[in-house]
Amino acid sequence: MLRLEKLTKTYRTGDKALNAVNLTVPKGQVMALIGPSGAGKSTLIRCINRLVEPTSGKVFLDQDDITGLSASGLRRMRRQMGMIFQEYALVERLTVMENVLSGRLGYVGFWRSFTRRYPQADVDEAFRLLDRVGLLEMADKRADELSGGQRQRVGIARALIQDPKVLLVDEPTASLDPKTSRQIMRLICELCAERELAAIINIHDVALAQMFVQRVIGLQKGVVQFDGKPDALTPEVLTKIYGEEDWKETTRSAEEAAE
Ligand SMILES: Nc1ncnc2c1ncn2[C@@H]1O[C@H](COP(=O)(O)OP(=O)(O)OP(=O)(O)O)[C@@H](O)[C@H]1O
Ligand SMILES: [Mg+2]
Repeated sequence: MLRLEKLTKTYRTGDKALNAVNLTVPKGQVMALIGPSGAGKSTLIRCINRLVEPTSGKVFLDQDDITGLSASGLRRMRRQMGMIFQEYALVERLTVMENVLSGRLGYVGFWRSFTRRYPQADVDEAFRLLDRVGLLEMADKRADELSGGQRQRVGIARALIQDPKVLLVDEPTASLDPKTSRQIMRLICELCAERELAAIINIHDVALAQMFVQRVIGLQKGVVQFDGKPDALTPEVLTKIYGEEDWKETTRSAEEAAE
């Protein structure tokens, strides 16, 4: 379980990106985080694993207070938090297999990782995960030979080989075509269900979020404006989150897609 208590971030520039956000994501729940550009979605995700240092407030993973950890404690804690990025963040000249195995770097010793000699159990698990994300045949290909959708599958396998408790996902489909986007969202949500992971997925595509997640949080100017089931995202609620617009098209396409 992931719990945020009055999480606040004010950047040095004076931008208040998060304003006392309270949020609990139970084990196994996939939650979409929506909101306009600049609402604080990426900041929220990054404050959880302290890639961005919160100004105040607390983050708990189960009983552990992440905000209070020292550098070494934080390193250990980060193993439990898998990240998936819009731009995949793969090492281009390494193979698919090596990219997946790099998810184990938080566990294996420096020398082993330097020589890239991973324990056999890690290699076996990497093969299992590549099979699960549909890339078994690609294990020896270089990352720069893959399509966007394939790259994101590698990113997912790399996050999961950490054996995390939570997944933090920042716009996983923003660079993908609509069909691939659905496949990737479906895959992430299925894997979270299989492994009982809590997940926060930042996503701009409201209809796509509605198709796959159990809960949506709407963030606006660092404040939670909506917290509820995807089908409760009415045009009125979307106006509250994003501002005045004609929302009928957005929600209708979601309804049609769900049929
Ligand atoms: N490193 C930074 N230094 C100063 N201000 C920042 C920094 N990163 C983000 N901000 C500001 O914090 C606010 C929230 O930004 P954030 O990137 O979290 O928004 P977002 O919801 O992820 O937006 P997008 O949908 O465009 O990715 C914005 O006003 C942004 O300008
Ligand atoms: Mg962002």
